[in-house]
Amino acid sequence: MAVRKLLLLPGDGIGTEIMVEVRKLLAYMNDNLGAGFEIEEGLVGGAAHDAHGKSISEEHMKLAHDADAVLFGAVGGPKWDGVPYDVRPEAGLLRLRKEMELFANLRPAICYPALADSSSLKKDVIEGLDILIVRELTGGVYFGDPKEIIDLGNGQKRGIDTQVYDTYEIERIAGVAFELARTRGNRVTSMEKRNVMKSGVLWNEVVTATHEAKYKDVELDHMLADAGGMQLVRWPKQFDVIVCDNLFGDMLSDVAAMLTGSLGMLPSASLGAPDGKTGVRKALYEPVHGSAPDIAGKGLANPIAKIASFAMCLRYSFNMVEEADLLEKAIANVLDSGKRTADIAAPHLPTVSTSEMGDAVLDQFKALT
Ligand code: NAI
Ligand code: MG
Repeated sequence: MAVRKLLLLPGDGIGTEIMVEVRKLLAYMNDNLGAGFEIEEGLVGGAAHDAHGKSISEEHMKLAHDADAVLFGAVGGPKWDGVPYDVRPEAGLLRLRKEMELFANLRPAICYPALADSSSLKKDVIEGLDILIVRELTGGVYFGDPKEIIDLGNGQKRGIDTQVYDTYEIERIAGVAFELARTRGNRVTSMEKRNVMKSGVLWNEVVTATHEAKYKDVELDHMLADAGGMQLVRWPKQFDVIVCDNLFGDMLSDVAAMLTGSLGMLPSASLGAPDGKTGVRKALYEPVHGSAPDIAGKGLANPIAKIASFAMCLRYSFNMVEEADLLEKAIANVLDSGKRTADIAAPHLPTVSTSEMGDAVLDQFKALT
């Protein structure tokens, strides 16, 4: 039986509450589906800070490196507002992303039929939507040098950020996008601004060359990123996989996500390079939302974003595609049945708690598997 090493890092606030619901699924899959998950749990964020003054310990960093995949909850909260920058809760997540070199951030935008009415767009524009944004996460303008504010001495200051991309960085993110497209609709749209940015010219060239060299079976188009933003709102179903740099990806993935629903519904994955020996990619799966201090400890958190992140883990880290599909189907069925946590409920209609939602998804998943 395969051994699948998972590290759970629940973190703070609702991070711990939503992880409980994933644990229920893990236990069921180990006991009944022979999934072979070997589970470790560690501290990150404020929880780690309270225990030993750091946002993640060396020991738990090592567990992350040794795991096949990390399931992350959320970190942060007002309790740690005054804590120095390098040991703040968020530093733990940034360190994990950086040291594991998680360069590919995947954000799906899926419209669950039962929620098609709650979008800000018309129902026919988003019903059935299933697109995937692949954002470069470790390069570009967020990291390039120089990055500074200079005092010009004449009462003026100059703020500088630098967008830098090397060929290898573009090649590897394009490779991830093409490979994922092969498992879906087989289409990639690359977005940049080659009309005004040199890094955009290179981005376009390298994506095109990568396509020519290895992925000619996948359909490729290019779109300027600003036009891409318009098209995402006008007719999002024209896309399958979108690949873009760190900055455009940050904005376009937020736009795409909000086409379909609440923060409590949105999963994400961050992938690294495949291991030279085993071929396994380093990966971390987390909900898009944070630790939600305003509702923490009240049983109000929607666990679906975390459960859907776990479905991505099954699909992308363990190639358990059937189980991933069934888990997503279980979520859709629960929503169809009318169960809603408070964040996705219409005003004045009855709601369920975090654990009731988790149990409902588990029951559906049991029925399907
Ligand atoms: P947030 O995402 O935690 O919450 C924003 C709003 O959405 C809140 O009203 C919250 O109650 C609601 N919400 C979020 N997730 C929900 C869920 N699963 N179910 C129901 N409602 C949900 O963002 P906010 O308030 O800006 O940040 C709170 C803390 O989380 C801060 O310390 C921030 O730094 C941290 N944070 C951490 C992230 C991470 O760990 N990756 C990401 C974003 C924020
Ligand atoms: Mg963002």
